[in-house]
Amino acid sequence: MILFGHIQRQHKKGILMTDKTRAVLLKSRPSGQISAENFAFTEIRLPAPAEDQVLVEIKYLSVDPYMRNRMNDMKSYIEPYALGQPVSGDAVGQVLESRSPAFRPGDWVAGMMPWQEHAVIPGSCLHKIEFTDVSPAVYLGILGLTGLTAYFGLLEIGKPVSGETVVISAAAGAVGSIAGQIAAIKGCHVTGIAGSDEKCTYLTEILGFRNAINYKSHPNIRKQLRQACPAGIDVYFDNVGGDISDSVMFYLNDYARIVLCGQIALYNSNRLSIGPRLFAQLIIHRVLMQGFIVYDYTERYPEARRQLYQWLKEGKLVNRETTIEGFDNLPGALIGLFTGNNTGKQIVKL
Ligand SMILES: NC(=O)c1ccc[n+]([C@@H]2O[C@H](COP(=O)([O-])OP(=O)(O)OC[C@H]3O[C@@H](n4cnc5c(N)ncnc54)[C@H](OP(=O)(O)O)[C@@H]3O)[C@@H](O)[C@H]2O)c1
Repeated sequence: MILFGHIQRQHKKGILMTDKTRAVLLKSRPSGQISAENFAFTEIRLPAPAEDQVLVEIKYLSVDPYMRNRMNDMKSYIEPYALGQPVSGDAVGQVLESRSPAFRPGDWVAGMMPWQEHAVIPGSCLHKIEFTDVSPAVYLGILGLTGLTAYFGLLEIGKPVSGETVVISAAAGAVGSIAGQIAAIKGCHVTGIAGSDEKCTYLTEILGFRNAINYKSHPNIRKQLRQACPAGIDVYFDNVGGDISDSVMFYLNDYARIVLCGQIALYNSNRLSIGPRLFAQLIIHRVLMQGFIVYDYTERYPEARRQLYQWLKEGKLVNRETTIEGFDNLPGALIGLFTGNNTGKQIVKL
C-alpha cells in the first residue's frame, strides 16, 4: 500500500496515476541491423518491494553498443536479453521507497536497471551516488562503466608512457573520448579516429588530441594514419574492429599494446568477419593484444572513480553528453549509436 501511496502522491504532481509502469521489451531478435521493430512498449505491474528491495524512479538511462549483442541468443560474458522481457542497462534513479537498510527515500542510486519508468530492484544491485556536486547522469559517463572502461583498459592494458603515440577508434564516443583524454593526461600524443569533421574538430580543439582522422571522408585511412603518427603507434585502443583496425596494424611499433575494448563495426553483422590475416605484424613487432571486460576490475571501481572525479573537478577531463529526452526514444537512441548520432556519452533522460 505504501508503494501505491508514493505513486499516487506523484500523481498529484501529474506524473503517474496507477501502480503500473511503462517498460520496453525485446520483441524480436534482430537479424543484421537492429531496428525499432525489435522493441515493444508495454505497461507492467509493479510489485511491492520485498525485504532488501527498493522502488526506484528511473531518471537517466544509458544506451550502450554491447546491448546489441545481448539481443542475440548467444553465450557471452553476460546473459542475452530474454524475448518478451524488459531490456536492461546501466541507469540512475531516485529511491521512492526502501526495504533495504542501505538506502532511504530520496537517495540517488546507480546500477543495472530494466528499461522501465519505475522498477523494484534488489538493494545489492545498486550503489549510492557518492559525489553529489555533479549531475547524476555523470554516473553513466565519466563516473560510470564508461569512464571505468576507459580507465582500466587504457591504464592496465595499454600502459601508456609519456611521449608515446596512442590511437583511439570511435574516439569521439563515450569510452573513446575519455580514453583519449586520459592518454593526453599521461603525456601521450593522441590520434583519434571518428566519423565526422565536427567530431574531429571537437577532439583536437576541446579534448587535446594531437590530431584526428575522419574515417568516413577517408575510406582508406592508412595514408592518414602514416601522416598522423610519424613515429608509429605504441598503443591502439580499439572500440571498432574491422577495416579501421586492419589499417592500424601496419603502423604498430615494437612492443605496442592493443587494447581490445569493442568491435562495434561488427555488431550488426550476420556473418563472422574474416579479414586479411595481419597477425604477422604482431609477431614482427612483439605486440601484445588483449581483450578485457570492465567487470574484471569491479574491486577497484572506487579507486578509479575517485581519480576520474578528481580529473573532472580539475578540468582535465571534459564531460560531454548527447541527451535525448523521453522514454519513447530509448530504442532510437540505441540504434543511433550505430550511425554515430552521439558525441560523448549517449543518455536518455526520462
Ligand atoms: N570491454 C568492455 O568492458 C566495454 C565496456 C563498454 C564499452 N565497450 C565497447 O566500447 C566501444 C565504445 O562504446 P561506447 O559506449 O563508448 O559507444 P560510443 O563510442 O559512444 O558510440 C558508438 C560510436 O561508434 C562509432 N561507430 C558506430 N558504428 C561504427 C562503424 N561501423 N565503424 C566505426 N565506428 C563506428 C560511432 O561514432 P562515429 O561517428 O565515429 O562513427 C558511434 O558514435 C564499443 O565497441 C563497446 O562495445 C566495451
